[in-house]
Amino acid sequence: MSEFIPPYPKRLKKLPGPLELLKLARHDLLSIWPESAYDRQFIQFKLANRSLIIANHPEIVRYTLVENHANYQRKSGLVKKILAPLLGDSLFISDGEQWARRRAIDDLMLTSQTQANANAAMVKTVGEWGQKWMGLNGSRLEVLPEMKQLAATVVCRILFDESITADRVNDLREMFADYFESIEQLDLNTLFGLPNWLPRKKSGKADGHIKRIHDWVDKIIAGQTSNNKQTSLLSAYLGAPSDNPSNPGLSPEQIRNGLIGFYLAGHETTANTLAWAWYLISQCPEVERKLHEELDGLGERPATVADLDHLVYTVAIIKETLRLYPPLPLLIREAVAADTIRNRPIPAGSFLFVVPWLLHRHKQYWDKPDHFMPERFLPTAPSPQPFSYVPFSVGPRACPGENLGLQLTTLCFANLAKNFRLEAAQGYAILPLSRLLLRPNHAMPMRLVWRPHPA
Ligand code: HEM
Repeated sequence: MSEFIPPYPKRLKKLPGPLELLKLARHDLLSIWPESAYDRQFIQFKLANRSLIIANHPEIVRYTLVENHANYQRKSGLVKKILAPLLGDSLFISDGEQWARRRAIDDLMLTSQTQANANAAMVKTVGEWGQKWMGLNGSRLEVLPEMKQLAATVVCRILFDESITADRVNDLREMFADYFESIEQLDLNTLFGLPNWLPRKKSGKADGHIKRIHDWVDKIIAGQTSNNKQTSLLSAYLGAPSDNPSNPGLSPEQIRNGLIGFYLAGHETTANTLAWAWYLISQCPEVERKLHEELDGLGERPATVADLDHLVYTVAIIKETLRLYPPLPLLIREAVAADTIRNRPIPAGSFLFVVPWLLHRHKQYWDKPDHFMPERFLPTAPSPQPFSYVPFSVGPRACPGENLGLQLTTLCFANLAKNFRLEAAQGYAILPLSRLLLRPNHAMPMRLVWRPHPA
């Protein structure tokens, strides 16, 4: 088993005071946790008169996100405030009735039919990527942007149109990059429930970027009809039943909101996971060797969804990557009504934090929690304690794209790792960093090396 301990930020000796916490959180949400947070089961403290709870025990995760979901399903004001102009009634930022209606429709969209078509889009796109990489043998690649481009292309082909070109996808990516640039530091105060008078960074540019993104998507929607032979999620939406019995179907705006939500939720999460997986195996020759051994069993043909049950070591690497570097390391909810947890009063309006980053590295739930050990996810290994491993969250608000996300990440990784190795460039100290999503602190430069298929 690998003895490799991949990088993580320095841990504090104790929980910082409010101002220090805010200062640290502005830069990185992973650096705010003291060593004791990786050993405690429940943390509660006050910040600017609001109660904050860290649900750091699997049973509390189950209670809040599953059993008492109705009381903890509301997203924090921050997420809604930032994303509402872009996402409208999309799942991410809806609560209550609106969320339940939207969730029923969106779950229907991710049916097996759509997944079968997703498989074709994945295999086709990663095949094109392999062709491109053949011409880059020996070159230096910036792996993070490369994986973002790959994931965005696959996701756009699943969502919009299977023949969409990488150039068109790049236009959309640039628009989103500009949009996030304009909002990135907005309102960490709101995240911690701080009052409005504290200074906030604002940007007036976001509206223009949102309009460009909406125009891009609207143009694609306008170009498709429900009865053409497309197999994308958009075509499924065009034929979807309405959430309002008096309307014949979803409005173009509702369709746009769903598609943008899926794009946003689906591509950076998978791209970051892929980038970390490449980094992790580049540091562990033994893991890389076992991976190649498994992938070589496929012969010359590409892996498809049908192979995933057999690619147990490849899947284990991806699951272990999601444990060590969960793309969403911090989930935030607001308590609708007062409650009691572990005999402690939880006032209405408290912020509940479920922190995969802490749960996944908790000393009481994992053996060698900071080690990279894919073997812990092999089918023969004991399963992790329920609700201690939550990269896709749990309960009614868990990720609806879990299957798709796992398939997409594993197939892209398998089909590229089968024919190529990536060697980490020297002189870069990699660290995870999170404002909202968890990502590496730089673009992850690596050297691409072609791996001939064994005779
Ligand atoms: C490795 C890949 C992925 C990871 C780790 C991931 C993780 C998550 C997590 C943790 C949540 C809950 C967020 C919260 O409670 O605040 C979530 C929600 C969501 N995810 Fe994913 N996701 C991934 C891929 C995808 C894909 C491929 C799609 C669809 C194309 C998707 C669509 C969504 C949507 C729409 C929600 C909001 C659900 C709701 O609020 O009801 N995700 N995801």
